Amino acid sequence: MTTLLSPSPSPSPLADVDALLPQVVVWRRRLHRHPEVAFQEVETARFIDETLRTIPGLHVSRPTRTSVLAALDGALPGPTIAVRADIDALPIREENDVAYRSQVDGAMHACGHDGHTAIVLGLATLLARHRDRLRGTVRFVFQHAEELSPGGAEELVAQGVMEGVSQVIGLHLWSPLPVGTIGLICGPAMAAPDTFECTIIGQGGHAAAPHQTVDPIAIGAQVVTALQQVVSRRVDPLDPVVLSVTQFIAGTTFNVIPSSAYLAGTVRTFDPALRDSMPAQLERIVAGVTSAFGATYTLTYERGYRPVVNDAALTARLEQVVTRTFGADTLVPMRPTMGGEDFSAYQQKAPGVFAFVGAGNEAEGITFPHHHPRFQIDERSLGIGLRYLTAASLELLTSDG
Ligand code: NI
Repeated sequence: MTTLLSPSPSPSPLADVDALLPQVVVWRRRLHRHPEVAFQEVETARFIDETLRTIPGLHVSRPTRTSVLAALDGALPGPTIAVRADIDALPIREENDVAYRSQVDGAMHACGHDGHTAIVLGLATLLARHRDRLRGTVRFVFQHAEELSPGGAEELVAQGVMEGVSQVIGLHLWSPLPVGTIGLICGPAMAAPDTFECTIIGQGGHAAAPHQTVDPIAIGAQVVTALQQVVSRRVDPLDPVVLSVTQFIAGTTFNVIPSSAYLAGTVRTFDPALRDSMPAQLERIVAGVTSAFGATYTLTYERGYRPVVNDAALTARLEQVVTRTFGADTLVPMRPTMGGEDFSAYQQKAPGVFAFVGAGNEAEGITFPHHHPRFQIDERSLGIGLRYLTAASLELLTSDG
């Protein structure tokens, strides 16, 4: 492993971004080749740990088995900030034909977390070189298990990674946004992703004698249809909500009416009161429809991550950072997304901003959505992400703001 400390650092870490980029690309591709899914990031964490230990000035520790924390103390006293990268991959078989494609069958970095990790390794490298300029402390948080509820962020918060932290920043490479743009959303940015499971219990029998059965498939179909009324008729149209049934499993063959049907799905909201009301809204429909047709049911509702809500003052400050660093054209208006993110766990402890860094490129066919077997990023986004986090860290650790 090469040590990247240059003998005489340039005046600003920002001036070093371009020179470091090839290394960031190497890190990202190395991670891309060796994906590990949530809570199993053993080799990934080892690689991050080893890489961080080649950077002079970092205090490296392991809050959990598959996460890594590095702290950098600036030369001058000041606040403590946290920068978060998520490190896990997804259980997807990669369909891209690239030299650095996944070497693990059934696992793939299909959300860009390989890029997030490489960017924050680059950030640690740059800021460590310029420790003399920094007032305060940076904690680089390499978090496991973003993709699988209950997520890794809660565990790291419980381990104390946010203790004494006054601000937290993070980013997501984002293929729906073109490379060269950055989206910052003030306030609610990503939804709370809750889940539900429902079993409809009827009475099975011969398909030729439906009147002697209580058909859970026919009843389940009514439940799915009636659930559409929640969003369209029970919720204020100005309040964003998603209610999707994503699994409907029942039956084994042509001539048997099964005795039960399994439904599962997701509910996504921003508003806390609306979120609290959703389990009862679901239950009323499931209970009403099943009882009307003589069936019974079980229903469980699981709360997922909290919504990501970006701090207004910090967002305004980082908008200025983007404009100053890249020019006014880079900052693009962006609407909230109904996707979920456990970055929200850190925001319970300190004001935080989660940014979206454009990684798509239509001309080069980099258009596939996140979590798709052909998901890709335009690697120029790595440089933009690194430059953004560097400028943001400097803003928070060198200015008096
Ligand atoms: Ni992601």
